[in-house]
Amino acid sequence: MKRIAVFTSGGDAPGMNACIRAVVRCAIYNKLEVYGIKRGYEGMISGQIQAMNSHSVSNIVQKGGTILKSARSKEFMTPEGRKKAFQQLKNFDIDGLVAIGGNGTFTGAKLFYEEFGIPTVGCPGTIDNDLYGTDYTIGYDTAVNTALDAIDKIRDTADSHNRVFFIEVMGRDSGYIAIQSGISGGAEIVMVPETDTSIETVIHTLEKGKLQHKTSAIVIVAEGDEEGNATEVAAKVGAKLSDLDIKVTILGHIQRGGSPTSRDRILASRTGVAAVEGLLKGHKSVMAGVVNDEVVFTPFVDTITKHKPISNDLIRLVHILSI
Ligand code: F6P
Repeated sequence: MKRIAVFTSGGDAPGMNACIRAVVRCAIYNKLEVYGIKRGYEGMISGQIQAMNSHSVSNIVQKGGTILKSARSKEFMTPEGRKKAFQQLKNFDIDGLVAIGGNGTFTGAKLFYEEFGIPTVGCPGTIDNDLYGTDYTIGYDTAVNTALDAIDKIRDTADSHNRVFFIEVMGRDSGYIAIQSGISGGAEIVMVPETDTSIETVIHTLEKGKLQHKTSAIVIVAEGDEEGNATEVAAKVGAKLSDLDIKVTILGHIQRGGSPTSRDRILASRTGVAAVEGLLKGHKSVMAGVVNDEVVFTPFVDTITKHKPISNDLIRLVHILSI
């Protein structure tokens, strides 16, 4: 292997830049040539590919977003799109890839490897922490701390006005951000896609709190909860408890930005280096993750199809601590 390329794809996540930096520097350290592909698979198809050197990644370890930019490419999901991408990589003599992203990114990478045989190692870059094969994903710790900071602030005003706040956090199919920010923010209720929390349970918990003279409450709702998003859940609860002063806050994309925490920078650096070393060792269609503080390589097919469950212990904590 002589020349590799790195790209970021899907939803951006704080720490992606630290990961790009690690890939570029580890490649140079190992005497590889390294290229950056702009806008993920979109840039691969259109040939937005440029040489990188050690200086290209100076002063980015602390920056949110991704200097290579990101995209969710519909064209790459078609055989024609992938063929164009392969042709571009051939034009640039790229013989290995590092893909930084989540499930969608790795689904594309797996197909691409099967069709064209360019070895690809992934780094887990998503705030959702929903990837099998790694305890944490790059950006998750920063997103949780951003959500927590917002929850703490909302609690101040909730308490001043005796209000119930329904706060929506990100996580289409995953309740990791909700459960972690909810427990650390002292939420009364946390609603996640992985477990059923009925509207009746929410009403019961809020009424119990009132009997115990609680004057305000925080309900964290993961955007993908089976009862709906925070606006929908709040409407259902408000229809039955009309005496409550209910407010809804959607944290949204604020969770995707900001300077990455130390944890995210280290995970990004570690998996970035592991990806390059993995390519050199002959890994082909796998994600580099960290499990129990050890780097492990998990086939893309497993990261895509296997579900990473939320610990029941964390779910239990919410019930115990919110009495
Ligand atoms: O996958 C990361 C994520 O932030 C999810 O939590 C969220 O559902 C989704 O991306 C939002 O995507 P977009 O920015 O494309 O609307």
